[in-house]
Amino acid sequence: MAEILLGVTGGAAAFKAVSVASLLRKSGHTVNCILTKAATEFVTSVQLSSVSGTPCYTDLFSSPAENSIPHITLTENADLMVIVPATAHFLARAAHGLADDLLTTSFLACSAPVLIAPAMNTRMWNNPAVQANVKILYSRGISFAGPVSGSLACGTTGEGRMVEPADIVEVCAEILKTGGKK
Ligand SMILES: Cc1cc2nc3c(=O)[nH]c(=O)nc-3n(C[C@H](O)[C@H](O)[C@H](O)COP(=O)(O)O)c2cc1C
Repeated sequence: MAEILLGVTGGAAAFKAVSVASLLRKSGHTVNCILTKAATEFVTSVQLSSVSGTPCYTDLFSSPAENSIPHITLTENADLMVIVPATAHFLARAAHGLADDLLTTSFLACSAPVLIAPAMNTRMWNNPAVQANVKILYSRGISFAGPVSGSLACGTTGEGRMVEPADIVEVCAEILKTGGKK
């Protein structure tokens, strides 16, 4: 079974990362979670670590001793990195190679396939800056799941809704089988 690095960013859909972690663990995978600072406003490390069965990481500089350089140790054995949900802010940082927290440094250090599940308001998703960042990431071999059209946390309906956890887990299984986007 695989070692999966689950990155969680600060969007309204962040609570759904708990289901993704739970489903991945039930599939027999080892799941290590990294939360951005903003993600901790939406979901707690305790919620995630209790379903993943492993410690949750949030801080680049203060991690458990055995992970003294956590962005390196967490990524060196990863078979897949999946970002659930991915904010516009994360897409921008990833597309431009910023490395200002544990998640973005891990993203840059990760040589495994990466799957991104974006989620945001429709106007944000349609913003040319966001679309340009998606294009950059896609052109570098990053896989995307969604977003889809549906009801959004802001009360509107439109494109920007995160793909459901079970569907994300299905895409993870596919990538693990095939090695990701070619
Ligand atoms: C209530 C609330 C909901 C938000 N939901 C989203 C969202 O779904 N998608 C998104 O891209 N940003 C959303 N944001 C904005 C992000 O939290 C903000 O851009 C933050 O800096 C993201 O940081 P991160 O990408 O490092 O986690 C939301 C903000 C608030 C206050």
